[in-house]
Amino acid sequence: MISFRDVTKVFGSGTGAVCAVDSVTLDIQRGEIFSVIGYSGAGKSTLVRLVNALETVTSGQVVVDGQDITALGESELRQVRAGIGMVFQQFNLMKSRTVASNVAYPLKVARWSKERRKERVAELLEFVGLADKARAYPSQLSGGQKQRVGIARALATQPAILLADEATSALDPDTTQDVLALLKRVNQELGVTIVVITHEMDVVRSIADRVAVMEAGRVIEHGPVYDVFAAPRERATQRFISTTLRDRPSPDALERLRHRHPGRMITVAVRENDGRGVDVTAALREHGVAGSIVFGGITEIDERPFGSLTIEVDGDQAAVDALIADLRRSTDVQDLGTREQPLGDDPLASAHVGAARDVGAGGGP
Ligand SMILES: Nc1ncnc2c1ncn2[C@@H]1O[C@H](COP(=O)(O)OP(=O)(O)OP(=O)(O)O)[C@@H](O)[C@H]1O
Ligand SMILES: [Mg+2]
Repeated sequence: MISFRDVTKVFGSGTGAVCAVDSVTLDIQRGEIFSVIGYSGAGKSTLVRLVNALETVTSGQVVVDGQDITALGESELRQVRAGIGMVFQQFNLMKSRTVASNVAYPLKVARWSKERRKERVAELLEFVGLADKARAYPSQLSGGQKQRVGIARALATQPAILLADEATSALDPDTTQDVLALLKRVNQELGVTIVVITHEMDVVRSIADRVAVMEAGRVIEHGPVYDVFAAPRERATQRFISTTLRDRPSPDALERLRHRHPGRMITVAVRENDGRGVDVTAALREHGVAGSIVFGGITEIDERPFGSLTIEVDGDQAAVDALIADLRRSTDVQDLGTREQPLGDDPLASAHVGAARDVGAGGGP
């Protein structure tokens, strides 16, 4: 549906030049929900703005639905843009117009008759669950309701593609889930291909089929969400994930942990491997090693387990070494050493201050 072919976008020139998108090659399939994540300034917004030609490429091609849009003139681009809806973080509603009038606006621009506009607006407001707010003004709506209006407006002309740039970033977690559920319906019931730009891993986890990770203008990694998150290949992806999941002790948290737990600590990645989970408890029992969970977090992606556990292990050194070797056959294990002989910080943990989610002492398997 959307194909980036060696796309580069440079803003400015000379010493002030910024390469916002750097040699990106990426395919987004028809009918999927594709997510682009990355830290601020990574180039996410610029990348999607190239899809509806709000920005023009410096080099490379952007092919939308079989058409190379980098070769099109302004009047042809208008056609392409009509097939692409966009929703924004700040909703961008017209304050002086009612909800119905906001939704009707793109139809007016597209010269739909008054009769058909009225019908379509009613249908759209019904779909987003705001039929009773047709005559309300944006100021009378909650953030979530405003974004529903934004989505209804973006869908008005029946686009095949919907671009959502941080569409839920201004919303609280519950409202975010409501809006994501609506986007999922848009995808499933209307067959719209959706590109979701976000810096929140939770958003990706909730709705995306595939994800691309951007850093400094480049797509450093992409693939099915579980594959990228459960076994990230790039350090930046690993850091990104642990920053959001906070399942691994940061250097600060590790220092506090060592204070309370002088023994050897290991961090075990919990994930599915060839359809099988990692049974840490069984491995401990098998090797006669006692373990106490001191830090961690496990969640689900795609109905599969994902996260990590930091465990203080207690047993003779040979047994612990054998345990680690055994676990490493099915997952990643970070040996953190002991208080006396630390093996450094967990390189996968974020240095983010306050990222600690300490589960305290005791209560181990
Ligand atoms: N119109 C512009 N002129 C000059 N530089 C720009 C322009 N738009 C973006 N940039 C620069 O390009 C880089 C990428 O910006 P972009 O907005 O695409 O990042 P982003 O990943 O969307 O970030 P955020 O998460 O903060 O929205 C940044 O360094 C930014 O300063
Ligand atoms: Mg942005």
